[in-house]
Amino acid sequence: MNTDSINGYKESIEILKKYPSEKRYTLAILQDVQKEYGFIPREVMGFVSEYLSLPISDIYSIATFYKALSLKAKGKYVIKVCNGTACHIRGSNTLIDEVTEVLGIKPGETTEDGLFSIEIVNCLGACALAPVMVVNEKYYGNMTKEKVKTVIDKYKGAGTNE
Ligand code: FES
Repeated sequence: MNTDSINGYKESIEILKKYPSEKRYTLAILQDVQKEYGFIPREVMGFVSEYLSLPISDIYSIATFYKALSLKAKGKYVIKVCNGTACHIRGSNTLIDEVTEVLGIKPGETTEDGLFSIEIVNCLGACALAPVMVVNEKYYGNMTKEKVKTVIDKYKGAGTNE
């Protein structure tokens, strides 16, 4: 293993140590990696492949197959816009259009400054507040197109100083 890259991802070695070097633990390992870094870094896929003696293409297939795993780093603020039935009926499409326009990225992407990512989700379990969007853990209910910019500006203001 390349020790330089390990130094950047030391935690991944601790994750690997928790599991026997067997193929059936691939998903569990990747889930832990996702939890630790918020995505599956390419270098770490290499460690997992080496540890489990599996081709990197196998690790890649699993990492891309499961929706809960992501190969891309997410922004500091992950904006989830609900497009479940209740939210859809109450105009979630307008919110999605506004969020993508204000941030200049599409769902699944992250802004260049690493501050924001957008995700479209199916139900955030707060249908009574539809349409709903969530920034990290904070819920914003009864959203309107007009409120979107205010919410985003609030986080932009917080920027990287937190
Ligand atoms: S459908 Fe949006 S919170 Fe349930």
